Amino acid sequence: MSSANAEKRIAVVTGASSGIGEATAKTLAALGFHVVAVARRADRINVLAKEIDGTAIVADVTDDAAVEALADQLGWVDVLVNNAGGARGLAPVADSDMEHWQWMWETNVLGTLRVTRALLPKLIDSGDGLIVTVTSVAAMEIYDGGAGYTAAKHAQSALHRTLRGELLGKPVRLTEIAPGAVETEFSLVRFDGDEQRADAVYTGITPLVAADVAEVIGFVASRPSHVDLDLVVIKPRDQADTRRFNRRG
Ligand SMILES: NC(=O)c1ccc[n+]([C@@H]2O[C@H](COP(=O)([O-])OP(=O)(O)OC[C@H]3O[C@@H](n4cnc5c(N)ncnc54)[C@H](OP(=O)(O)O)[C@@H]3O)[C@@H](O)[C@H]2O)c1
Repeated sequence: MSSANAEKRIAVVTGASSGIGEATAKTLAALGFHVVAVARRADRINVLAKEIDGTAIVADVTDDAAVEALADQLGWVDVLVNNAGGARGLAPVADSDMEHWQWMWETNVLGTLRVTRALLPKLIDSGDGLIVTVTSVAAMEIYDGGAGYTAAKHAQSALHRTLRGELLGKPVRLTEIAPGAVETEFSLVRFDGDEQRADAVYTGITPLVAADVAEVIGFVASRPSHVDLDLVVIKPRDQADTRRFNRRG
């Protein structure tokens, strides 16, 4: 980070190479944060960091050494957005794919644990830290075929909410953001690049876009330091819950 940014508050956003993370990086930069964009795809975060005058750090949240190296490169941290994650597959429990389950748990649950644990001392030292964790409505509900993802998101939420009590008395706020359907690369990743299957998720509804969620995270990050928005659930008007959508046409 250049010395020109020395006075700016630092926001670390994981999964900043696409979707909600990328939009959040842009929103927080527009609010005056120096954003550290983290993801595995270097090309994308390098372009983003240039655009928002931030810093790109390539790191896989499932890799201990990479996350330690990320923490070592940061002098201090004011905001952490645990956003890296996603789903793989939609198989019933009876046919579940162990690799998919492992991917979802490693990325959503242990990734959040790894990054949070590594950056927590710096967030506390900042005197006014904020941890935003992007879970999902899948952290509150279940649906057929979704057990690997809903179980991982429930666990990620439990980890995040536990910190709220464990950090009581420390200068760190905790906000869980639980989105419904957002049109990003999420479904493309879930269905292994099958565009037709991914597009069908959003057919006939008006889903959220990444900027809708990012705007809320920006609002959270700009509240006065005594205000903790514990949980924000954000869904498209066309979605009642994980199973019920208003599909037109
Ligand atoms: N879209 C939805 O409908 C929806 C709804 C509720 C919650 N969410 C949650 O929102 C978060 C963001 O998802 P999205 O919708 O924006 O999907 P996305 O467009 O697929 O973005 C996922 C991001 O996570 C990063 N990522 C994945 N594995 C990673 C790893 N091992 N290490 C570092 N970064 C990793 C990806 O970057 P690289 O591949 O470059 O590493 C990418 O930047 C996820 O936690 C997801 O579960 C999404």
